[in-house]
Amino acid sequence: MGLSFFFLVFCLGILPLASSEYYALNEGSSLSVEKSGDVLVSPNRLFSAGFFPVGDNAYCFAIWFNHSNSTVAWMANREQPVNGRRSKLSLDNGNLVLTDAGQTIVWTTDLVSTFSVQLKILDSGNLVLRTLGGHTLWQSFDSPTDTLLPHQLLTRNTQLVSSRSPGNYSSGFYKLYFDNDNVLRLLYNGPNISSVYWPAPWLLSWQAGRTTYNDSRTASFNSLGYFISSDNFQFNASDAGAEQLRRLTIESDGNLRMYSLANRTTGAWSVSWQAISQPCTIHGVCGPNSLCTYDHGSGRKCSCLPGYKMITPADWAYGCGPNFELSDNLSEVGFFQLLHVDFYGYDLSYTQNFTWDQCAMQCMQSSDCSAFQYKLYEDTGVHACYTKFLLKNGQQTPNFMGDVYLKLPKASMSSYEDPTKDSSWNCSSEAHEQLARIYRKRQENEILSSLLWFASALGGFEVICVISVWFFLFRDQKKSVADQGYHLAATGFKRFTYAEIQKATSNFITEIGRGGGGIVYKGVLSDKRIAAIKQLNEANQGDAQFLAEVMTIGKLNHMNLIDMWGYCVEGKHRLLIYEYAEHGSLADNLSANVLDWDKRFQIAVGTARGLAYLHEECLEWVLHCDVKPQNILLDNGYQPKVADFGLSKLLDRKSINSNFSMVRGTRGYMAPEWVLNLPITSKVDVYSYGIVILELITGKSPRGFLTSNGGETEEKSLVTWVREKRNNEVSTKTSCLEDIVDPTMNGQYDINKMEILVAVAMQCVEEDRDARPTMSRVVQMLLHEENDF
Ligand SMILES: *[C@@H]1O[C@H](CO)[C@@H](O)[C@H](O)[C@H]1NC(C)=O
Ligand SMILES: *[C@@H]1O[C@H](CO)[C@@H](O)[C@H](O)[C@H]1NC(C)=O
Ligand SMILES: *[C@@H]1O[C@H](CO)[C@@H](O)[C@H](O)[C@H]1NC(C)=O
Ligand SMILES: *[C@@H]1O[C@H](CO)[C@@H](O)[C@H](O)[C@H]1NC(C)=O
Ligand SMILES: *[C@@H]1O[C@H](CO)[C@@H](O)[C@H](O)[C@H]1NC(C)=O
Ligand SMILES: *[C@@H]1O[C@H](CO)[C@@H](O)[C@H](O)[C@H]1NC(C)=O
Ligand SMILES: *[C@@H]1O[C@H](CO)[C@@H](O)[C@H](O)[C@H]1NC(C)=O
Ligand SMILES: *[C@@H]1O[C@H](CO)[C@@H](O)[C@H](O)[C@H]1NC(C)=O
Ligand SMILES: *[C@@H]1O[C@H](CO)[C@@H](O)[C@H](O)[C@H]1NC(C)=O
Ligand SMILES: *[C@@H]1O[C@H](CO)[C@@H](O)[C@H](O)[C@H]1NC(C)=O
Repeated sequence: MGLSFFFLVFCLGILPLASSEYYALNEGSSLSVEKSGDVLVSPNRLFSAGFFPVGDNAYCFAIWFNHSNSTVAWMANREQPVNGRRSKLSLDNGNLVLTDAGQTIVWTTDLVSTFSVQLKILDSGNLVLRTLGGHTLWQSFDSPTDTLLPHQLLTRNTQLVSSRSPGNYSSGFYKLYFDNDNVLRLLYNGPNISSVYWPAPWLLSWQAGRTTYNDSRTASFNSLGYFISSDNFQFNASDAGAEQLRRLTIESDGNLRMYSLANRTTGAWSVSWQAISQPCTIHGVCGPNSLCTYDHGSGRKCSCLPGYKMITPADWAYGCGPNFELSDNLSEVGFFQLLHVDFYGYDLSYTQNFTWDQCAMQCMQSSDCSAFQYKLYEDTGVHACYTKFLLKNGQQTPNFMGDVYLKLPKASMSSYEDPTKDSSWNCSSEAHEQLARIYRKRQENEILSSLLWFASALGGFEVICVISVWFFLFRDQKKSVADQGYHLAATGFKRFTYAEIQKATSNFITEIGRGGGGIVYKGVLSDKRIAAIKQLNEANQGDAQFLAEVMTIGKLNHMNLIDMWGYCVEGKHRLLIYEYAEHGSLADNLSANVLDWDKRFQIAVGTARGLAYLHEECLEWVLHCDVKPQNILLDNGYQPKVADFGLSKLLDRKSINSNFSMVRGTRGYMAPEWVLNLPITSKVDVYSYGIVILELITGKSPRGFLTSNGGETEEKSLVTWVREKRNNEVSTKTSCLEDIVDPTMNGQYDINKMEILVAVAMQCVEEDRDARPTMSRVVQMLLHEENDF
């Protein structure tokens, strides 16, 4: 069979598969750009190689994924596309030659072979030129473009280079490579400057967990999603362990992502790992003199600094240039304040203990200074003054406690606008108004808020940001409308009709919970998935705003967040369709005493991950504002799934005031900031999380309980109680764990981990919000591992 097969291939030159595709290209034959069927297909039919359209009448010879025909794995001539007429790839004398329009040679393998050779695409996606004896003369795996496939080695001689933009496949500005010190890095190699941004440039190699001593310089991953590099860097895809079609691609936005082909029917990819979680920290994203901000619709947004204008329309790589001239007369120069803004690098000077006026004067007097940053280090009480000669890598983030003052002509100061001023990161202002009612309606509230929900039908992925959706959105604004529809459909997030919902819930027959602004029903969708369907109280919010918010929530996709499958807007009806969690809420499970130590720890870590993702990874501005056991649901493997996030945005004031909506911010779990009317930051969620963990550890309600103390009984809050026990611990030098840990665990727990869990919880419930850790720090502390991104 094998022999006659080769014989056939040899004789026919190219062997037709199905109707018009080929399995191998032989000596003396060619693939033509004009015949759409001139495509090589791998035996497993996962990969194709042929002429790929990259523009009007422009083609590149490429390898693409059969299931996702717009995803290219490799290109021969990315810088120089060929004409759609008379171009061909031919195999002559053992040499592959790509000719443009029958004339110029655009690309070649530069080989001479006296053997008979054959070009094939293997099941791995590797395009190989082999002798009939099986000796490999050339392979595409040795010259990757922007994508690495499973088992393909990245070596000292190869690098991945991003494409210029999602629609322009020629080389862009971002590069993954082994540096001269043997460390795998990401580099921004822009029109004017180069800078390394991963691992974080302020860390030494060893601090970033890398070694410089292994000079083999190789990196690769396998189809199970385990990546390993010779500098000790390794990661596991969030769906690691499952055999998947995967790729690792450096994208035109500068991020390195691993993808799994989530659905072979639709060809939709999902992100299973990414190197950079905060897109604005990637160097060069917006070019010089601009600001990168997190945008909840598109992920990130670039804007010129006030007084500056874009240099090349529609291409942020070149950033912005000044649209003003500064006078030599210092009294005509002023400063424009930008809050929470940081520009990385390019300091002219750094001075401590300057007053603002001294700092401003220093910048004013230097003609090289274009702005200064003034920052108070709260821990030391020292004011730092940085004057800047270039404004690059600008970003605005609410966690950054420093402001930038731009040097601009005083006369036109009032005409400038802060490009970032509409951003707001706080929870809905309604939360403040609820306070009074929450206290009064406490009893009722407890009953109402026993939300049950949801399951893990899809389960599995940790980081499925459905990023393919939103990256598409912000990469190419013009096309966003059409693409959005397509991508959303492809990822399964959809709009339901009211009739569909009525059918799924058998006309709203099974109520499974109330709270968070509506009633929750169980339903079975037409594709047999079990769903939790939340009918929102009547809202008078406009359709457009509602849709915008729903889309945002729909894009949040994390293993530890409840998955939203769709929504329904019809007339007055607004419904949200979620996955159904089989084991109900953490509150129910705690009261039923069914959680052993392993489950409890898993719940603590998972919940922290879900919240960290909400706060930091995808969309920085999302605060939950109502973290409590009723809103943490458990799937069939007891993985926690945080529910009810993003809802405050969907409910307007009117519905918040109606009956079932007092849940946002619940007594016992609310941070002191709410009561003290302090700014609301992500630390309110950290506080609530800390309370939930204390409840998980002790099995006691946070709302205060009676303790007997030498015959006297007194009411204490859970936090006070645990704090006192821990203080005793110091004086008596005995562990307090026995006293505080839930007795239903019968002492079956890991003492070290429990100590950590208690310590972390107590840190989270500090009165002073700055003393509380961030959620990602919590994850690190619980897992006891350093994480450098
Ligand atoms: C994969 O390729 C084969 C042969 O070209 C084709 O018949 C099939 O439809 C392709 N599958 C997808 C999902 O595109
Ligand atoms: C990709 O596949 C879709 C549907 O199978 C088809 O309409 C489209 O033309 C294909 N695109 C390319 C570039 O082959
Ligand atoms: C793609 O990018 C390259 C490099 O910046 C540029 O020269 C080329 O004109 C771009 N092609 C298209 C079609 O925009
Ligand atoms: C590169 O830097 C020089 C000097 O700062 C500047 O004049 C030039 O415009 C820059 N070019 C680009 C493309 O940013
Ligand atoms: C260097 O890295 C390679 C690939 O990860 C590994 O096989 C090898 O054992 C390492 N060498 C040393 C000395 O650690
Ligand atoms: C990846 O998974 C393997 C097997 O489960 C485990 O041994 C390894 O420690 C994990 N690596 C990382 C970086 O999590
Ligand atoms: C893939 O997508 C199609 C169409 O949306 C859907 O019918 C199918 O169930 C999905 N398959 C999986 C495994 O999710
Ligand atoms: C500087 O500007 C101020 C205000 O515009 C003006 O009063 C003053 O005369 C100017 N000084 C010089 C030296 O031009
Ligand atoms: C700045 O002030 C602090 C506190 O007043 C002092 O400890 C520190 O030495 C000062 N630093 C410098 C560089 O003057
Ligand atoms: C919260 O946001 C509103 C507008 O959405 C703003 O007016 C208010 O100042 C913000 N509050 C805080 C504490 O940031």
